[in-house]
Amino acid sequence: MENLIRENLSINIKVIDLLNDQIKMEAKASATYLAMASWCDQHGYDHSAKFFYAQSSEEREHMLKIFKYINDNGGMAYSPTVEGVSHDYESILDLYKTALQEEIKVSKSIQNIFLTCRKEKDVASELFLQWFVNEQQEEEQKMRHAVKIYDLHGEDVENLYAIDKRIAGV
Ligand SMILES: [Fe+2]
Ligand SMILES: [Fe+2]
Repeated sequence: MENLIRENLSINIKVIDLLNDQIKMEAKASATYLAMASWCDQHGYDHSAKFFYAQSSEEREHMLKIFKYINDNGGMAYSPTVEGVSHDYESILDLYKTALQEEIKVSKSIQNIFLTCRKEKDVASELFLQWFVNEQQEEEQKMRHAVKIYDLHGEDVENLYAIDKRIAGV
């Protein structure tokens, strides 16, 4: 029975496995942004803290979106465990650089699943992932913008808090 159900899934089995890996990645991103919010709170970057609390919630929403998609289409979504979340950053620039690197990793992973859908002719999942492709583009842009501004104008300590307000005023 188990086999019959899996054989008749509308989502490709390889795609389901990759989507379960993606659930882990989104959960890790959510936990990482929460750690970043904490660092920002500790160091007086109030706007960035608020920004990362919001980002953390968004990542959880991404995770749930994939979770529901798998379960609604006959697959089995697995609740993720998250390990190795860093709370140590050298500076606010270092923190945003790390966030940008993480977003780039997520984008690559989404693209990889997208291309697997195409290869396996899983049209429904390809369409489902289109939203994530666009979302990743936006998230990378936000982080890249912050890195650029801190990199260009962050030398002056007084500027740091002014930039905080400007780039992460949410
Ligand atoms: Fe995400
Ligand atoms: Fe993200």
